[in-house]
Amino acid sequence: MGDDAVLRVPPTHEIIIVPPPEHQGHHTLLQQCIQVRIAVFVTEQGFPLEVEVDEHDPTATHWLLRVLPSLESIGTIRAYRVENAGGSYYKLSRLAVLQEYRHYKFGRNLVLALHNWAEVHARNSGVTDYVKIVCHSQAARANSAGAIAFYRKLGYKEEGDLFDEDGEPHQKMVARLSLAE
Ligand SMILES: CC(C)(COP(=O)(O)OP(=O)(O)OC[C@H]1O[C@@H](n2cnc3c(N)ncnc32)[C@H](O)[C@@H]1OP(=O)(O)O)[C@@H](O)C(=O)NCCC(=O)NCCS
Repeated sequence: MGDDAVLRVPPTHEIIIVPPPEHQGHHTLLQQCIQVRIAVFVTEQGFPLEVEVDEHDPTATHWLLRVLPSLESIGTIRAYRVENAGGSYYKLSRLAVLQEYRHYKFGRNLVLALHNWAEVHARNSGVTDYVKIVCHSQAARANSAGAIAFYRKLGYKEEGDLFDEDGEPHQKMVARLSLAE
C-alpha cells in the first residue's frame, strides 16, 4: 500500500479560544500559544525572537490546539479586526502547528475555527454581506515550502506582489466569506 492510501488518523485533540485578558487562565493559555509560535517561527524557521510577540497579542483573539488527554499544546492561530479608510477586515496571523503534528488537518481546522468566529463577530457587528479575512502568507524559500498553496485550498486568493516581512518573502492573500443564509 502506497503512502497516499494510508489514512492519517489525528490524535484526539481540542481547539479552544484563549479567554480575554480579564479572565482566569488567559495568561497561561496565551503563553502556551506563544511557546508553539516560538518553536515553529523562531527555532524551526529562524525568525527573530524580538518580532514574535508584538503589539497585537494583548488584544487579539487566540486559539490553542491541544492533544488530549495530555493537554500538550501543538497548534495556534490568532485574529484581530482592522478598521481603516478602505473598510474593515480580520487579520489572520501566527498560524503554526508543531512539525511532528503536521498533515493531520490541524492547520486547516484552526483556520476554519477562525473563520467561524469571524462570521459570528461580523454578524454581531451588523455586517450582512461578507467577511473579509487577510493574511500574509510565507512564500516558498530555500528551507520552507511556504503556505500559499495551503491558503488557496481554504479559499484565499493572492493580491499584489510578494513583499518583505521580517526579512522573508510574503504574499498578501484574501478570503471573502459570504454571510448569505
Ligand atoms: C502551514 C501549516 C500551518 C499547515 O498545517 P498542517 O496541519 O500541516 O496542514 P493541514 O494538514 O491542515 O493541510 C491542509 C491541506 O493543505 C495542504 N498543505 C499543508 N501544508 C502545506 C504547505 N506548506 N503548502 C502547500 N500545501 C500544504 C495539505 O496537504 C492539505 O491538503 P489536502 O486538504 O488536499 O489534503 C504548517 O505546515 C506550519 O505550521 N508551517 C510552519 C509555519 C507556517 O508556515 N505558518 C504559516 C505562516 S503564513
